[in-house]
Amino acid sequence: AETPALPEHTWQFEGVFGTFDRATVQRGLQVYNAVCSTCHGMKYVHFRNLEDIGYSEDEVEAIAAQYTVEDGPNDQGEMYERPAEPTDAFPFPYDNKQAAKNANNGAIPPDLSVITNARPGGPEYIRALLLGYEEAPQDANLQPGQYWNTYYPSHKISMPQMLVQGAVDYQDGTQATPEQMAHDVTAFLHWASNPHMEERKRLGLKVILFLIVLTALLYAVQRKIWADVE
Ligand code: HEM
Repeated sequence: AETPALPEHTWQFEGVFGTFDRATVQRGLQVYNAVCSTCHGMKYVHFRNLEDIGYSEDEVEAIAAQYTVEDGPNDQGEMYERPAEPTDAFPFPYDNKQAAKNANNGAIPPDLSVITNARPGGPEYIRALLLGYEEAPQDANLQPGQYWNTYYPSHKISMPQMLVQGAVDYQDGTQATPEQMAHDVTAFLHWASNPHMEERKRLGLKVILFLIVLTALLYAVQRKIWADVE
């Protein structure tokens, strides 16, 4: 089956003035926590990084504490589990890759730390994928545990449709429609993939502004220096 073009979508983070809308990415974190984290990890995103999207130290501690991480070995040489701390990363929820495969029809849920940069189409693809579940064509031959997704390259994906109406209960009262959740969690994942985007854009604008001023100055000086020359 052919893959249609990715639907266009408008994001607050687009363009040279684009930023991560705090309410959006915070709702996205809520989706990640409630839904995605049961199968995926983000080994390069640490809980303390959440301060960058508007959480206080205490809030970060509380969010981390909802997760369990493996630590050790302790003095007895044993590994043990404990609640996550701000310095931990979002954990991979399975003991190992084999356990992840066993639970997911032989597929391993990929790490989502840099997923919007890692897939062609970026955020547009991730959003389309999350909303792209359809009834399989007659001749699809889906295995048990496989689902038909319009935008997944092979269409047969071992991740079930997760974003169904009301899958999360938004703290800010926003209606949790599949479109809303897909928008929010994708924006959150794009922040995770590009945590320095806002800084980068601010610096870029300053550099451009500086270059404009410098150009004007050099022009004025040049006119002055050469003013007396025929
Ligand atoms: C794959 C995102 C929830 C299991 C993926 C991929 C993304 C993703 C971006 C990669 C697709 C690709 O390779 O192009 C998300 C998000 C979730 C979520 C944002 C929450 C809204 C879940 C849950 C499960 C799961 C809850 C387990 C029940 C998987 C598996 C794959 C996968 C097994 C690999 C699929 C394959 O190779 O066929 N997910 N996921 N995901 N996800 Fe999720």
